[in-house]
Amino acid sequence: MSGPGAHRPPGDRWGGFKSLVKDLPPETLAVVDKRVAKFHPTLVPALKKAGAHGVVLLQGGEKAKSFNVLQQILEAGIGLSRRGTLLCVGGGTLGDVSTVAAHVLKRGVPLIQVPSTLLAAVDSSLGGKGALDLEVKGRTVKNAMGVFHYAAASWLCPELFESLSEKQLREGGVEAWKMVLTLDAEKWRSYLLSPPSLETLIRDARGLKARVCEEDPYELKGLRRVLNFGHTFGHVLESISDFSLAHGEAVGLGMLCALDVGRALGTTSEELAGVVENALLRVPRVLPRSKLREVIGRAQPDGSTLSALLAADKKNEKSGELKMVLLRDLGRTEFVTVGEKTWKPLWRVWREGGRP
Ligand SMILES: NC(=O)c1ccc[n+]([C@@H]2O[C@H](COP(=O)([O-])OP(=O)(O)OC[C@H]3O[C@@H](n4cnc5c(N)ncnc54)[C@H](O)[C@@H]3O)[C@@H](O)[C@H]2O)c1
Ligand SMILES: [Zn+2]
Repeated sequence: MSGPGAHRPPGDRWGGFKSLVKDLPPETLAVVDKRVAKFHPTLVPALKKAGAHGVVLLQGGEKAKSFNVLQQILEAGIGLSRRGTLLCVGGGTLGDVSTVAAHVLKRGVPLIQVPSTLLAAVDSSLGGKGALDLEVKGRTVKNAMGVFHYAAASWLCPELFESLSEKQLREGGVEAWKMVLTLDAEKWRSYLLSPPSLETLIRDARGLKARVCEEDPYELKGLRRVLNFGHTFGHVLESISDFSLAHGEAVGLGMLCALDVGRALGTTSEELAGVVENALLRVPRVLPRSKLREVIGRAQPDGSTLSALLAADKKNEKSGELKMVLLRDLGRTEFVTVGEKTWKPLWRVWREGGRP
């Protein structure tokens, strides 16, 4: 594959809005999260002053990953020539829909990602994936359609992260710690001895994810599935909570579920699971197991809903059978088939807020 969205190294640049707008490519259409524009009132005027082709202000949030929002971006970009660029200042949701938009706008234009949440900075703005959610039988199926379209560049603007709440920082922190846990044992140990600064966490997580994407840019070799640690049950929890549970929060709980499945199958030793769970609860502050009880108890999905949600996960082949990334050791994972007989009894314990 070649063209504006072809795989390339991340091309990270760090700086404030001033340097970002100074280097704005000609004919840039900017998609900006409304909340970001509100918290950082100099941003949109600076983009306009720098000659942006247009600025589309959109509401971030899972609902943004829809055809309706895609249409709004495409409409705003209708007058762009094929030399135009799409720039997205936002979290993972606007980043994902903008990635799809950049892929189809004029049959593909370069994308510049300016991640405004920690989650977007450490994860979603890197790796080329963009997606929309689809409504299927009254339920939202996450990332049900998508594209690969690598960003031409990413701008990391630390001032953007100053308006993030504790909760938002935790959501991104969980994904970053997930990468360190599954890919770099040495870094995990050193993080526990001395927690990294936000900038170090971002640089390290991006470095680790970029390394994985470099080896398997279009997810053809199965090497990227390590990034899905915690996501099998994470996605289900996110969905049954009607997205009141944020992605990062759901993935944190999904990691506890993955440790339990690993223990049940003997892939993850009791000792390792205990140490990792304590660390996850303590430092990126993964939500406690009582939250599992709350989310599962409130939604009370019946067996068929649960199976449908798990089956919608593209990693799963036979009904009831899951393909999950499990932890073998610090920095080392295995891709394992998990039968219903293993995960269903665990689910019943999670539903009560317990540790199997
Ligand atoms: N493409 C990928 O590889 C990939 C990887 C991981 C996650 N994702 C996707 O990312 C999405 C989650 O991303 P997210 O957590 O960034 O969600 P998000 O885009 O909804 O942002 C979360 C909230 O933060 C607000 N916000 C954004 N920047 C802010 C700032 N600087 N200050 C204050 N508030 C700000 C947003 O308006 C929103 O309300 C999910 O849809 C997930 O599926 C994609
Ligand atoms: Zn994720």
